[in-house]
Amino acid sequence: MKVTVIGTGYVGLPTALVFADLGNDVLCVDKDEAKVAMLRAGQVPIYEPGVEALLRRSLDDGLFKVTPSTDEGMQHGEVVFIAVGTPQGDDGEADLSAVWAVARDIAKYICHYTIIVTKSTVPVGTGDRIEQILVDAAVDRSMFDVVSNPEFLREGTALPDAQHPDRIVIGADNQAAAHKLMELFAPLEAPVIITDRRSSELIKYASNTFLAIKISFINAISRMCEECGADVSAVARGMGSDPRIGNKFLQAGLGWGGSCLPKDVAALNKIAADLGYDFKMLQAADEVNEQQTRHFVQRLSDRIGGFQGKTIGLLGLAFKPNTDDIRDAKSLEIIEMLKAEGATIRAYDPAAAENVRAIHPDITYVNSALETGQDADAIILVTEWNEFKSLDLTRLGQIMRRKLIFDGRRVFTPYQIERAGFEYVTVGAKG
Ligand code: UGA
Repeated sequence: MKVTVIGTGYVGLPTALVFADLGNDVLCVDKDEAKVAMLRAGQVPIYEPGVEALLRRSLDDGLFKVTPSTDEGMQHGEVVFIAVGTPQGDDGEADLSAVWAVARDIAKYICHYTIIVTKSTVPVGTGDRIEQILVDAAVDRSMFDVVSNPEFLREGTALPDAQHPDRIVIGADNQAAAHKLMELFAPLEAPVIITDRRSSELIKYASNTFLAIKISFINAISRMCEECGADVSAVARGMGSDPRIGNKFLQAGLGWGGSCLPKDVAALNKIAADLGYDFKMLQAADEVNEQQTRHFVQRLSDRIGGFQGKTIGLLGLAFKPNTDDIRDAKSLEIIEMLKAEGATIRAYDPAAAENVRAIHPDITYVNSALETGQDADAIILVTEWNEFKSLDLTRLGQIMRRKLIFDGRRVFTPYQIERAGFEYVTVGAKG
Protein backbone atom coordinates (compact mmCIF):
# COMPACT_ATOMS: atom_id res chain seq x y z
CA MET A 1 0.00 0.00 0.00
CA LYS A 2 1.18 3.55 -0.64
CA VAL A 3 1.39 5.27 2.72
CA THR A 4 2.30 8.84 3.63
CA VAL A 5 3.22 9.86 7.17
CA ILE A 6 3.32 13.58 7.97
CA GLY A 7 5.63 14.29 10.91
CA THR A 8 8.81 12.34 11.69
CA GLY A 9 8.98 12.68 15.47
CA TYR A 10 8.88 10.06 18.22
CA VAL A 11 5.58 8.69 16.85
CA GLY A 12 5.69 9.37 13.09
CA LEU A 13 9.12 7.95 12.34
CA PRO A 14 8.81 4.56 14.10
CA THR A 15 5.28 4.15 12.70
CA ALA A 16 6.45 4.89 9.17
CA LEU A 17 9.39 2.51 9.48
CA VAL A 18 7.18 -0.32 10.69
CA PHE A 19 4.87 0.17 7.68
CA ALA A 20 7.92 0.09 5.38
CA ASP A 21 9.20 -3.03 7.14
CA LEU A 22 5.87 -4.69 6.34
CA GLY A 23 6.49 -4.06 2.63
CA ASN A 24 4.46 -0.87 2.15
CA ASP A 25 5.73 1.98 0.00
CA VAL A 26 6.18 4.75 2.57
CA LEU A 27 6.84 8.45 2.09
CA CYS A 28 7.40 10.65 5.14
CA VAL A 29 6.80 14.40 5.02
CA ASP A 30 8.57 16.79 7.35
CA LYS A 31 8.79 20.50 6.74
CA ASP A 32 12.08 20.68 8.65
CA GLU A 33 14.56 20.38 5.76
CA ALA A 34 17.53 19.69 8.04
CA LYS A 35 15.68 16.70 9.48
CA VAL A 36 14.81 15.48 5.97
CA ALA A 37 18.49 15.65 4.99
CA MET A 38 19.52 13.72 8.11
CA LEU A 39 16.93 11.00 7.54
CA ARG A 40 17.90 10.66 3.89
CA ALA A 41 21.49 10.11 5.07
CA GLY A 42 20.28 7.36 7.42
CA GLN A 43 20.66 9.43 10.59
CA VAL A 44 17.98 9.67 13.25
CA PRO A 45 17.56 13.00 15.05
CA ILE A 46 16.15 11.31 18.19
CA TYR A 47 17.48 8.57 20.47
CA GLU A 48 15.22 5.55 20.06
CA PRO A 49 16.65 1.99 20.17
CA GLY A 50 16.61 0.14 16.85
CA VAL A 51 15.26 3.02 14.77
CA GLU A 52 18.49 3.94 13.02
CA ALA A 53 19.20 0.36 11.92
CA LEU A 54 15.67 -0.04 10.57
CA LEU A 55 15.88 3.36 8.83
CA ARG A 56 19.06 2.34 7.00
CA ARG A 57 17.58 -1.00 5.96
CA SER A 58 14.35 0.64 4.75
CA LEU A 59 16.28 3.27 2.76
CA ASP A 60 18.33 0.49 1.14
CA ASP A 61 15.16 -1.49 0.33
CA GLY A 62 13.73 1.63 -1.31
CA LEU A 63 10.53 1.33 0.71
CA PHE A 64 11.11 4.44 2.82
CA LYS A 65 11.56 7.95 1.45
CA VAL A 66 11.29 11.37 2.98
CA THR A 67 10.39 14.76 1.53
CA PRO A 68 9.70 18.29 2.77
CA SER A 69 6.82 18.58 0.28
CA THR A 70 3.21 17.93 1.36
CA ASP A 71 2.28 18.14 -2.33
CA GLU A 72 4.46 15.10 -3.03
CA GLY A 73 3.10 13.39 0.07
CA MET A 74 -0.48 13.85 -1.10
CA GLN A 75 0.30 12.55 -4.57
CA HIS A 76 1.91 9.47 -3.03
CA GLY A 77 -0.39 8.23 -0.26
CA GLU A 78 -3.65 6.32 -0.50
CA VAL A 79 -3.57 6.63 3.27
CA VAL A 80 -2.07 9.75 4.85
CA PHE A 81 -1.24 9.71 8.56
CA ILE A 82 -1.02 12.96 10.53
CA ALA A 83 1.62 12.41 13.22
CA VAL A 84 2.62 15.95 14.16
CA GLY A 85 3.03 17.20 17.72
CA THR A 86 0.10 18.33 19.85
CA PRO A 87 1.90 19.95 22.79
CA GLN A 88 0.25 21.55 25.79
CA GLY A 89 -1.14 24.99 25.03
CA ASP A 90 -2.84 27.61 27.19
CA ASP A 91 -5.17 26.41 30.00
CA GLY A 92 -3.89 22.85 29.59
CA GLU A 93 -5.63 22.63 26.22
CA ALA A 94 -3.82 20.68 23.45
CA ASP A 95 -2.20 23.06 20.97
CA LEU A 96 -3.47 21.83 17.61
CA SER A 97 -1.91 24.50 15.42
CA ALA A 98 0.36 21.94 13.70
CA VAL A 99 -2.62 19.67 12.97
CA TRP A 100 -4.67 22.54 11.48
CA ALA A 101 -1.70 23.64 9.34
CA VAL A 102 -1.35 20.08 7.99
CA ALA A 103 -5.11 19.89 7.33
CA ARG A 104 -4.95 23.15 5.34
CA ASP A 105 -2.00 21.78 3.33
CA ILE A 106 -3.87 18.54 2.71
CA ALA A 107 -6.85 20.56 1.45
CA LYS A 108 -4.53 22.43 -0.88
CA TYR A 109 -2.76 19.42 -2.38
CA ILE A 110 -5.28 16.57 -2.27
CA CYS A 111 -5.45 15.15 -5.79
CA HIS A 112 -7.11 11.71 -5.47
CA TYR A 113 -9.30 9.88 -2.96
CA THR A 114 -7.33 9.77 0.31
CA ILE A 115 -7.93 8.34 3.76
CA ILE A 116 -6.67 10.96 6.20
CA VAL A 117 -5.77 9.40 9.54
CA THR A 118 -5.02 11.21 12.81
CA LYS A 119 -2.28 9.39 14.75
CA SER A 120 -1.45 12.36 16.94
CA THR A 121 -3.29 12.56 20.27
CA VAL A 122 -6.14 14.94 19.52
CA PRO A 123 -9.22 16.08 21.43
CA VAL A 124 -12.67 14.74 20.64
CA GLY A 125 -14.06 16.49 17.59
CA THR A 126 -10.70 17.08 15.87
CA GLY A 127 -11.63 14.71 13.02
CA ASP A 128 -14.83 16.71 12.48
CA ARG A 129 -12.84 19.91 12.29
CA ILE A 130 -10.31 18.48 9.82
CA GLU A 131 -13.25 17.39 7.68
CA GLN A 132 -14.66 20.93 7.88
CA ILE A 133 -11.33 22.51 6.88
CA LEU A 134 -11.34 20.42 3.69
CA VAL A 135 -14.99 21.13 2.95
CA ASP A 136 -14.42 24.87 3.54
CA ALA A 137 -11.55 24.70 1.03
CA ALA A 138 -14.05 23.36 -1.53
CA VAL A 139 -12.60 19.82 -1.55
CA ASP A 140 -15.30 17.46 -2.77
CA ARG A 141 -16.64 15.27 0.07
CA SER A 142 -16.14 12.14 -2.07
CA MET A 143 -12.37 12.80 -2.22
CA PHE A 144 -11.56 11.85 1.38
CA ASP A 145 -12.43 10.21 4.66
CA VAL A 146 -11.07 11.24 8.02
CA VAL A 147 -10.29 8.39 10.40
CA SER A 148 -8.91 8.34 13.97
CA ASN A 149 -6.19 5.78 14.71
CA PRO A 150 -4.52 6.70 18.01
CA GLU A 151 -1.00 5.48 18.66
CA PHE A 152 -0.14 3.68 21.89
CA LEU A 153 3.63 3.19 21.46
CA ARG A 154 5.95 4.31 24.26
CA GLU A 155 9.21 6.15 23.87
CA GLY A 156 12.19 3.94 24.49
CA THR A 157 10.31 0.88 23.16
CA ALA A 158 8.70 2.54 20.15
CA LEU A 159 9.66 -0.10 17.59
CA PRO A 160 8.63 -3.25 19.47
CA ASP A 161 5.45 -1.45 20.58
CA ALA A 162 4.60 -0.48 16.99
CA GLN A 163 5.46 -3.97 15.72
CA HIS A 164 3.45 -5.78 18.39
CA PRO A 165 0.61 -3.51 19.48
CA ASP A 166 -1.83 -4.73 22.18
CA ARG A 167 -4.66 -3.37 20.08
CA ILE A 168 -5.38 -1.24 17.05
CA VAL A 169 -8.15 1.29 17.40
CA ILE A 170 -9.82 2.55 14.25
CA GLY A 171 -12.41 5.28 14.61
CA ALA A 172 -14.21 5.69 11.32
CA ASP A 173 -17.64 6.82 10.37
CA ASN A 174 -17.24 5.07 6.99
CA GLN A 175 -16.88 1.25 6.96
CA ALA A 176 -14.95 1.14 3.66
CA ALA A 177 -12.25 3.44 5.07
CA ALA A 178 -12.06 1.30 8.24
CA HIS A 179 -11.58 -1.83 6.14
CA LYS A 180 -8.79 -0.26 4.10
CA LEU A 181 -6.93 0.50 7.34
CA MET A 182 -7.59 -3.01 8.66
CA GLU A 183 -5.92 -4.31 5.52
CA LEU A 184 -2.86 -2.14 6.22
CA PHE A 185 -2.63 -3.34 9.83
CA ALA A 186 -3.52 -7.00 9.16
CA PRO A 187 0.11 -8.28 9.11
CA LEU A 188 0.55 -7.08 12.73
CA GLU A 189 -2.03 -9.67 13.84
CA ALA A 190 -3.27 -7.49 16.69
CA PRO A 191 -6.85 -7.24 17.96
CA VAL A 192 -8.67 -4.46 16.11
CA ILE A 193 -11.33 -2.28 17.71
CA ILE A 194 -13.48 -0.48 15.20
CA THR A 195 -15.56 2.32 16.55
CA ASP A 196 -16.87 5.77 15.75
CA ARG A 197 -14.35 8.57 15.41
CA ARG A 198 -15.21 10.44 18.60
CA SER A 199 -14.95 7.34 20.79
CA SER A 200 -11.60 6.55 19.22
CA GLU A 201 -10.31 10.04 19.97
CA LEU A 202 -11.43 9.68 23.58
CA ILE A 203 -9.91 6.17 23.94
CA LYS A 204 -6.42 7.65 23.63
CA TYR A 205 -6.93 10.26 26.35
CA ALA A 206 -8.78 7.82 28.59
CA SER A 207 -5.93 5.31 28.27
CA ASN A 208 -3.07 7.71 28.98
CA THR A 209 -4.84 9.43 31.86
CA PHE A 210 -5.83 6.09 33.39
CA LEU A 211 -2.15 5.10 33.36
CA ALA A 212 -1.29 8.40 35.07
CA ILE A 213 -3.95 7.78 37.72
CA LYS A 214 -2.62 4.25 38.26
CA ILE A 215 0.92 5.53 38.85
CA SER A 216 -0.32 8.31 41.12
CA PHE A 217 -2.33 5.75 43.09
CA ILE A 218 0.73 3.64 43.85
CA ASN A 219 2.72 6.79 44.61
CA ALA A 220 0.02 7.83 47.11
CA ILE A 221 0.32 4.36 48.68
CA SER A 222 4.10 4.87 48.74
CA ARG A 223 3.64 7.92 50.96
CA MET A 224 1.68 5.77 53.42
CA CYS A 225 4.35 3.06 53.28
CA GLU A 226 7.01 5.60 54.26
CA GLU A 227 5.01 6.40 57.40
CA CYS A 228 3.80 2.95 58.43
CA GLY A 229 6.85 0.83 57.60
CA ALA A 230 5.25 -1.16 54.77
CA ASP A 231 7.15 -1.67 51.52
CA VAL A 232 5.49 -0.32 48.36
CA SER A 233 7.06 -2.89 46.02
CA ALA A 234 5.56 -5.71 48.09
CA VAL A 235 2.20 -3.93 48.11
CA ALA A 236 2.36 -3.41 44.32
CA ARG A 237 3.30 -7.06 43.78
CA GLY A 238 0.41 -8.20 45.94
CA MET A 239 -2.07 -5.89 44.22
CA GLY A 240 -0.76 -6.49 40.71
CA SER A 241 -1.14 -10.27 40.97
CA ASP A 242 -4.88 -9.74 40.74
CA PRO A 243 -5.48 -9.83 36.98
CA ARG A 244 -8.28 -7.27 37.42
CA ILE A 245 -5.60 -4.81 38.59
CA GLY A 246 -2.55 -6.01 36.64
CA ASN A 247 1.08 -5.50 37.60
CA LYS A 248 2.04 -2.93 34.96
CA PHE A 249 2.35 0.79 35.72
CA LEU A 250 2.47 0.10 39.45
CA GLN A 251 6.12 1.10 39.81
CA ALA A 252 6.32 3.74 42.54
CA GLY A 253 8.88 6.44 41.91
CA LEU A 254 9.31 10.15 41.36
CA GLY A 255 6.10 10.31 39.34
CA TRP A 256 5.13 10.52 35.69
CA GLY A 257 6.76 12.87 33.23
CA GLY A 258 7.40 12.90 29.50
CA SER A 259 5.74 14.38 26.50
CA CYS A 260 2.43 12.54 26.85
CA LEU A 261 1.02 11.76 30.28
CA PRO A 262 1.32 15.30 31.76
CA LYS A 263 -0.10 17.04 28.68
CA ASP A 264 -2.86 14.48 28.23
CA VAL A 265 -3.95 14.78 31.88
CA ALA A 266 -4.11 18.57 31.45
CA ALA A 267 -5.93 18.26 28.11
CA LEU A 268 -8.56 15.77 29.30
CA ASN A 269 -9.18 17.91 32.37
CA LYS A 270 -9.81 20.86 30.05
CA ILE A 271 -11.99 18.80 27.69
CA ALA A 272 -14.04 17.64 30.70
CA ALA A 273 -14.36 21.19 32.04
CA ASP A 274 -15.53 22.42 28.63
CA LEU A 275 -18.16 19.69 28.69
CA GLY A 276 -19.29 20.84 32.14
CA TYR A 277 -17.69 17.97 34.09
CA ASP A 278 -15.30 18.64 36.96
CA PHE A 279 -12.85 15.70 36.66
CA LYS A 280 -11.61 15.79 40.27
CA MET A 281 -9.95 12.38 40.06
CA LEU A 282 -7.61 13.68 37.36
CA GLN A 283 -6.80 16.80 39.32
CA ALA A 284 -5.98 14.66 42.37
CA ALA A 285 -3.68 12.42 40.30
CA ASP A 286 -1.91 15.52 39.06
CA GLU A 287 -1.55 16.85 42.60
CA VAL A 288 -0.04 13.56 43.86
CA ASN A 289 2.38 13.73 40.94
CA GLU A 290 3.36 17.32 41.72
CA GLN A 291 4.03 16.46 45.36
CA GLN A 292 5.97 13.27 44.75
CA THR A 293 9.30 14.72 43.59
CA ARG A 294 9.07 17.73 45.90
CA HIS A 295 8.53 15.43 48.89
CA PHE A 296 11.47 13.21 47.89
CA VAL A 297 13.84 16.17 47.57
CA GLN A 298 12.59 17.50 50.93
CA ARG A 299 13.41 14.14 52.55
CA LEU A 300 16.95 14.45 51.22
CA SER A 301 17.24 18.04 52.38
CA ASP A 302 16.10 17.06 55.91
CA ARG A 303 18.58 14.20 55.95
CA ILE A 304 21.64 16.28 55.02
CA GLY A 305 20.68 19.56 56.69
CA GLY A 306 19.82 21.59 53.56
CA PHE A 307 21.61 21.88 50.23
CA GLN A 308 23.65 25.04 50.72
CA GLY A 309 27.30 24.15 50.01
CA LYS A 310 26.44 20.50 49.29
CA THR A 311 27.30 18.50 46.18
CA ILE A 312 24.60 16.26 44.79
CA GLY A 313 25.14 13.66 42.05
CA LEU A 314 22.25 12.97 39.66
CA LEU A 315 22.00 9.59 37.98
CA GLY A 316 19.75 9.93 34.94
CA LEU A 317 18.14 12.99 33.35
CA ALA A 318 15.78 11.61 30.68
CA PHE A 319 12.12 11.35 31.66
CA LYS A 320 12.50 7.58 31.46
CA PRO A 321 15.21 5.13 30.33
CA ASN A 322 16.14 4.49 26.68
CA THR A 323 15.25 7.95 25.46
CA ASP A 324 16.92 11.34 25.20
CA ASP A 325 13.56 13.08 25.78
CA ILE A 326 13.52 15.48 28.72
CA ARG A 327 10.07 16.98 28.25
CA ASP A 328 8.51 17.24 31.74
CA ALA A 329 11.38 15.14 33.10
CA LYS A 330 11.59 14.92 36.89
CA SER A 331 15.29 15.73 36.61
CA LEU A 332 14.43 19.29 35.55
CA GLU A 333 12.28 19.83 38.65
CA ILE A 334 15.03 18.41 40.85
CA ILE A 335 17.74 20.54 39.25
CA GLU A 336 15.67 23.67 39.80
CA MET A 337 15.04 22.83 43.44
CA LEU A 338 18.68 22.01 44.11
CA LYS A 339 19.94 25.12 42.31
CA ALA A 340 17.51 27.34 44.21
CA GLU A 341 18.89 25.96 47.50
CA GLY A 342 22.53 26.47 46.51
CA ALA A 343 23.65 22.91 45.74
CA THR A 344 26.45 22.00 43.34
CA ILE A 345 25.18 19.42 40.84
CA ARG A 346 27.09 16.67 39.02
CA ALA A 347 24.86 14.98 36.47
CA TYR A 348 25.11 12.00 34.14
CA ASP A 349 22.76 10.51 31.57
CA PRO A 350 23.69 8.10 28.75
CA ALA A 351 21.54 9.98 26.16
CA ALA A 352 19.86 13.10 27.50
CA ALA A 353 22.71 15.19 28.99
CA GLU A 354 23.08 17.49 25.96
CA ASN A 355 19.37 18.28 26.00
CA VAL A 356 19.54 19.28 29.66
CA ARG A 357 22.75 21.23 29.11
CA ALA A 358 20.84 23.46 26.67
CA ILE A 359 18.56 24.49 29.56
CA HIS A 360 21.02 24.31 32.47
CA PRO A 361 24.49 25.06 31.07
CA ASP A 362 25.74 25.96 34.57
CA ILE A 363 25.80 22.50 36.15
CA THR A 364 28.54 19.90 35.77
CA TYR A 365 27.92 17.07 33.29
CA VAL A 366 30.21 14.08 33.78
CA ASN A 367 30.99 11.20 31.45
CA SER A 368 30.09 8.25 33.63
CA ALA A 369 27.71 7.27 36.37
CA LEU A 370 30.61 6.77 38.77
CA GLU A 371 31.90 10.34 38.34
CA THR A 372 28.65 11.81 39.69
CA GLY A 373 29.84 10.63 43.09
CA GLN A 374 33.09 12.64 43.22
CA ASP A 375 33.02 14.50 46.59
CA ALA A 376 29.22 14.23 46.61
CA ASP A 377 27.16 14.46 49.78
CA ALA A 378 24.45 12.32 48.20
CA ILE A 379 23.41 10.68 44.94
CA ILE A 380 19.86 10.88 43.62
CA LEU A 381 18.88 8.18 41.16
CA VAL A 382 16.36 9.93 38.89
CA THR A 383 16.03 7.65 35.83
CA GLU A 384 16.32 3.86 35.98
CA TRP A 385 18.75 3.27 33.08
CA ASN A 386 19.88 -0.36 33.06
CA GLU A 387 23.55 0.54 33.43
CA PHE A 388 22.88 1.99 36.91
CA LYS A 389 21.74 -1.40 38.17
CA SER A 390 25.28 -2.75 37.91
CA LEU A 391 27.05 0.38 39.14
CA ASP A 392 30.07 -0.47 41.32
CA LEU A 393 28.75 0.93 44.59
CA THR A 394 31.93 0.08 46.50
CA ARG A 395 33.99 2.32 44.19
CA LEU A 396 31.27 4.96 44.24
CA GLY A 397 31.40 4.99 48.04
CA GLN A 398 35.16 5.52 47.98
CA ILE A 399 34.90 8.83 46.10
CA MET A 400 31.83 10.26 47.84
CA ARG A 401 31.97 12.60 50.81
CA ARG A 402 29.00 10.84 52.37
CA LYS A 403 27.81 7.38 51.34
CA LEU A 404 24.17 8.28 50.83
CA ILE A 405 21.89 7.17 48.00
CA PHE A 406 18.41 8.53 47.40
CA ASP A 407 16.89 6.05 44.98
CA GLY A 408 13.96 7.69 43.20
CA ARG A 409 13.12 4.59 41.16
CA ARG A 410 13.76 1.71 43.59
CA VAL A 411 16.60 0.32 41.47
CA PHE A 412 19.14 -0.89 44.02
CA THR A 413 18.69 -4.06 46.05
CA PRO A 414 19.19 -4.20 49.84
CA TYR A 415 22.02 -6.69 49.23
CA GLN A 416 23.94 -4.23 46.97
CA ILE A 417 23.44 -1.42 49.45
CA GLU A 418 24.43 -3.41 52.55
CA ARG A 419 27.52 -4.86 50.90
CA ALA A 420 28.75 -1.37 49.95
CA GLY A 421 27.79 0.11 53.34
CA PHE A 422 25.57 2.95 52.08
CA GLU A 423 22.83 4.86 53.83
CA TYR A 424 19.86 4.26 51.59
CA VAL A 425 16.55 6.04 51.18
CA THR A 426 13.96 5.12 48.58
CA VAL A 427 10.40 5.92 47.60
CA GLY A 428 7.77 3.98 49.51
CA ALA A 429 9.87 2.66 52.38
CA LYS A 430 10.80 4.04 55.79
CA GLY A 431 14.18 5.70 56.09
C1 UGA B 1 2.82 7.02 27.14
C2 UGA B 1 1.90 5.77 27.05
O1 UGA B 1 2.40 4.75 27.91
C3 UGA B 1 1.86 5.24 25.61
O2 UGA B 1 0.94 4.15 25.53
C4 UGA B 1 1.40 6.37 24.68
O3 UGA B 1 1.36 5.95 23.32
C5 UGA B 1 2.36 7.54 24.80
O4 UGA B 1 2.36 8.00 26.19
C6 UGA B 1 1.86 8.65 23.91
O5 UGA B 1 0.77 9.18 24.16
O6 UGA B 1 2.50 8.92 22.88
P1 UGA B 1 5.47 7.41 27.23
O7 UGA B 1 5.14 8.84 27.52
O8 UGA B 1 6.48 7.10 26.18
O9 UGA B 1 4.15 6.60 26.81
O10 UGA B 1 6.02 6.79 28.58
P2 UGA B 1 5.47 5.79 29.70
O11 UGA B 1 6.17 4.50 29.59
O12 UGA B 1 3.98 5.77 29.72
O13 UGA B 1 5.99 6.54 31.03
C7 UGA B 1 5.45 7.79 31.41
C8 UGA B 1 5.98 8.21 32.75
O14 UGA B 1 5.46 7.39 33.79
C9 UGA B 1 7.50 8.14 32.89
O15 UGA B 1 7.95 9.30 33.55
C10 UGA B 1 7.73 6.91 33.73
O16 UGA B 1 8.91 6.99 34.49
C11 UGA B 1 6.51 6.93 34.62
N1 UGA B 1 6.12 5.60 35.14
C12 UGA B 1 5.71 4.62 34.30
C13 UGA B 1 6.15 5.37 36.51
O17 UGA B 1 6.51 6.26 37.31
N2 UGA B 1 5.75 4.15 37.00
C14 UGA B 1 5.34 3.16 36.17
O18 UGA B 1 4.98 2.07 36.69
C15 UGA B 1 5.32 3.39 34.79
